[in-house]
Amino acid sequence: MLKIAVLVSGGGTNLQAIIDAIKEQTITNTEIKVVISNNANAYALTRAKEAGIEARCISPKDYASREIFNEELCKALVEYDVDLIVLAGYLVIVPPQVIATFTNRIINIHPSLIPSFCGTGYYGLKVHEAVLARGNKVTGATVHFVDDGTDTGPIILQKAVEVEEGDTPEVLQRRVMEQAEWRILPKAIDLIANGKVSVVDGIAHVAE
Ligand code: GRF
Repeated sequence: MLKIAVLVSGGGTNLQAIIDAIKEQTITNTEIKVVISNNANAYALTRAKEAGIEARCISPKDYASREIFNEELCKALVEYDVDLIVLAGYLVIVPPQVIATFTNRIINIHPSLIPSFCGTGYYGLKVHEAVLARGNKVTGATVHFVDDGTDTGPIILQKAVEVEEGDTPEVLQRRVMEQAEWRILPKAIDLIANGKVSVVDGIAHVAE
């Protein structure tokens, strides 16, 4: 049984997709041990509680320094004894000690086709604003392992989504969520839970 922690900051639609997929068993052999947010008001925490999942707020604002927050978050994740950490719209920099402790056991969903429109400053609506400003005809989403860079770890799954004439950032974000994020993030978790993902020389390989 793959035990996972899901880290969130906002509305939690990706978390909901994971919760629903476990319920429908399109994600197998997986249990969400805890949902952790840096934002006490994140609706994602409400979604977790409504699903009977432990929901915690661990926020940098509640600690005297970022270093202490980093230590506390890492300690909590170790205590929950999780096998995989899933970043689902998590907007806090992942502490270096978490990266070191959970090497190749942290995944992230990014709302573009990495290496486009990613890295520092590219998150949430900003990604879709940049895609529209560049005039891209195709965008999408990426699930990747998290390393000590920003959106730079091995790519696990990607899914392309059409950009349509007249799209606003909000309309495009919703389409990317519906057609890509909410499908490939649960799929990636199921693949990992069933031992079908390996990383060789920095490249992730998926056995179907
Ligand atoms: C969204 O911008 C999504 O594209 C990205 O994180 C943000 C929050 O999504 N992955 P969620 O509704 O909190 O899962």
